[in-house]
Amino acid sequence: MNEKIENLRARFKEKMASISQKDALEQLRVGFMGKKGEFTALLKDMKDMQDEARRQFGQLVNSAKAEFERAIVEKAREIEAAEIAKKTESEWVDITWPEEPLQGSAHPLSIVRAELEDLFTSLGFDIMDGPEMEEEYFNFNALNIPEDHPARDSQDTFWLKNGKLLRSQTSPVQIRGMLAKKPPIKFVSPGKTYRNEAVDASHEHSFHQCEGLVIDKGITVSHLVFTLQQIISSIFGEEVEIRLRPSFFPFVEPGFELDFKCRICKGKGCSVCKQTGWIEYLGCGMVHPQVLKNCGIDPEIYSGFAFGGGIERLAMMKYGIDDIRHFHGGDLRFLKQF
Ligand code: PHE
Repeated sequence: MNEKIENLRARFKEKMASISQKDALEQLRVGFMGKKGEFTALLKDMKDMQDEARRQFGQLVNSAKAEFERAIVEKAREIEAAEIAKKTESEWVDITWPEEPLQGSAHPLSIVRAELEDLFTSLGFDIMDGPEMEEEYFNFNALNIPEDHPARDSQDTFWLKNGKLLRSQTSPVQIRGMLAKKPPIKFVSPGKTYRNEAVDASHEHSFHQCEGLVIDKGITVSHLVFTLQQIISSIFGEEVEIRLRPSFFPFVEPGFELDFKCRICKGKGCSVCKQTGWIEYLGCGMVHPQVLKNCGIDPEIYSGFAFGGGIERLAMMKYGIDDIRHFHGGDLRFLKQF
C-alpha cells in the first residue's frame, strides 16, 4: 500500500517540477486532490482493508495529502512572485524622469572661448590660467597703473574685504606669465573678469576677456597685426579687415585700439557700428619697458606685444546677439540656439 503512495508522490513531484503557470497548477491540484482525483481513487482501496491496516493507510494518505497541499500553496506563491517581478521589470516608470529627455549644449561663450583656444594653440600659443581673486599688485601696480588711476576706484573695481580684488581685466596674467616663464613667451589667457558696472545691453559686471602675450627678440607691431588679423578672420570664417588706432593703456607703449570692419554692413555704415563702418574691438600694444623690467626682463634685449579683448563682444558679433545680458540670463530659448 505504501508503494501506491510513494508512486503517487513521485508522479506529483515530477509534474510539479515542470509547472510555471497558475492554470497548470490548478489542473494538477484538481487531478490529485479533486473529487475525482488520485486521492479519492486511493481511498477506494481502503474499503477492503482490515481495521489496523486501514487506520495506518488512512494516516499515510492524510499526511501525503497535507504535504501535497502545502507544496501547491508554496508553488502558487512562487508563481505569483515571479509574475510580479516580471511586471515590475517590464512596466516600471520613473516618475522623476522628464517627459522629453533634456539635451544640454555648450554655452555660446564656451564655444567661442574653445575656438579661440584652438586657434591660438594652432599658432603655437600656450594657454595660461590666472586667479579671479587677484592681488592689487598684479592687477594694477605691476602693470604700471598709477596709484591715483580712476580704474582703481571702488566705483570701477570690486574690492574684497581681505584687501584683494576681483580682477578687472585679464592683464594681470601677463605679469604672472612673465614671472613664471623665461622668454620666448607666447600664451593666451581667457577667463572671467569683473567690473563694478551699471548693467545695460552692452555692459555686464561679470564678463570674459582673452589676454595674449608674446615676448621675444625682435617682436614688432607687425607681429601683433598679423596675429590678430588671422585670429579674427578665423573666428568669422572669412577674411576680416582690421585697423589700429592710437590709444592709451599704461602697460603698453605704443598702445592701440583695434577695430574690425563691421560684420553687419561690411563697412558701409549702420546702427551697429554707429555709421562708422568699424567695430571697436580690443586694446593692445607693445609691452611697456617698465612692465618688462617689473618682471625681470631686459627691455634692451626683448620686446613683445600684448592684447586683451572681450569674449562676449566677439560672440555677439559672430552670432548676431543684440544684448549682453542674454549670456547670463539662463533662458533656455536663447541657450538652445547654439
Ligand atoms: N586690459 C585692457 C582692458 O581691459 C586691454 C589691453 C590688454 C590693452 C593688453 C593693452 C594690452 O581694457
